[in-house]
Amino acid sequence: MKEQIEQITKSALEEIQKAENSKILNEVKVKILGKKGELTQVLRGMKDLSPEERPIIGSIVNEARNEIEKTIEEKEEKFKEQEMQEKIEKETIDITLPSTKIKRGSKHPVNRVIEEIEDLFVSMGYDVVSGPELETDEFCFERLNLPQGHPARDMQDSFYITNEYLLRTQTSAVQARTMLANTEKTPIRMICAGKTYRREDDATHSHQFGQVEGLVIDKKERNVSLADLKGTLEVFVKKLIGKNCELRFRPSYFPFTEPSYEVDVSCFKCGGKGCNLCKQTGWIEVLGAGIVHPNVLKMNGYDPEKYGGFAFGTGLERLAMFKYAIPDMRYLYTNDIRFLNQFDRKDEE
Ligand code: PHE
Repeated sequence: MKEQIEQITKSALEEIQKAENSKILNEVKVKILGKKGELTQVLRGMKDLSPEERPIIGSIVNEARNEIEKTIEEKEEKFKEQEMQEKIEKETIDITLPSTKIKRGSKHPVNRVIEEIEDLFVSMGYDVVSGPELETDEFCFERLNLPQGHPARDMQDSFYITNEYLLRTQTSAVQARTMLANTEKTPIRMICAGKTYRREDDATHSHQFGQVEGLVIDKKERNVSLADLKGTLEVFVKKLIGKNCELRFRPSYFPFTEPSYEVDVSCFKCGGKGCNLCKQTGWIEVLGAGIVHPNVLKMNGYDPEKYGGFAFGTGLERLAMFKYAIPDMRYLYTNDIRFLNQFDRKDEE
């Protein structure tokens, strides 16, 4: 019996050695170790042995089994490695294939307008500054010549957080901040764009909107005048909206400028003939502007006898509507992808 086992082992090892792939190897495994396998048969025959022989033959069979199993395992391992290697070689990536198209987002029209305005004013020597959206009553009103109880405060219904803090109703607050930060250093040429908030909720007003503010202060002898303001706003509006639009300056009132103006632009929809958008007037109001009030200069560290300048402020949504002929302001807020997609690299193409 011992010879028989040795014989089986020897031929098994040879067959394992010869096996060319894992399928053949598995067949060899079944042939020898399976239910009806050669070695299993031998084990079955052990019941005919004498009690003395049984443990001896038993341990020989076990040894043989262990050796065969180990050899099969090693061979299996080799095959696995080979298969993996072949797979890796086959799976090389063809980098010349066209890639899947990535969906590119687009800049929001209001942000486009902000960037364009900033670029334009930087080219004219202005600094781009910013201020807090949660502002104090002091900077939003007091330092702009709007003391507590001033009737003009009623024009800007506000979101007060406490008695002292509110969401800024106008970027003009940044005028006061900029003057105080510079105290009699000149010139100041600043532009500031950002969010503003008012307690309004009807069809043509949103509780949150964007404004851009401009401020120029210089020594009196440099004579920053209304003519400079007018020229600056003309460059601004014509560059942003189009050469053909016309500007109209109307006397108005703001507590922080004197004299003050409201600036209208000829309606983009009807070209000035009159339509529903411009309420049949041919004009749409876009800017507030004026010569900085002496009180404002005084309160923010500039002697009005020695310094002077102009300021202007405008709503960003209006400008975006003009520039892109958007007929309804709500398109700018509702995040409709069909609307926003149209602004994908619009200017570059
Ligand atoms: N802050 C004013 C507004 O919100 C606009 C303005 C700015 C007017 C600067 C004059 C000077 O209506």
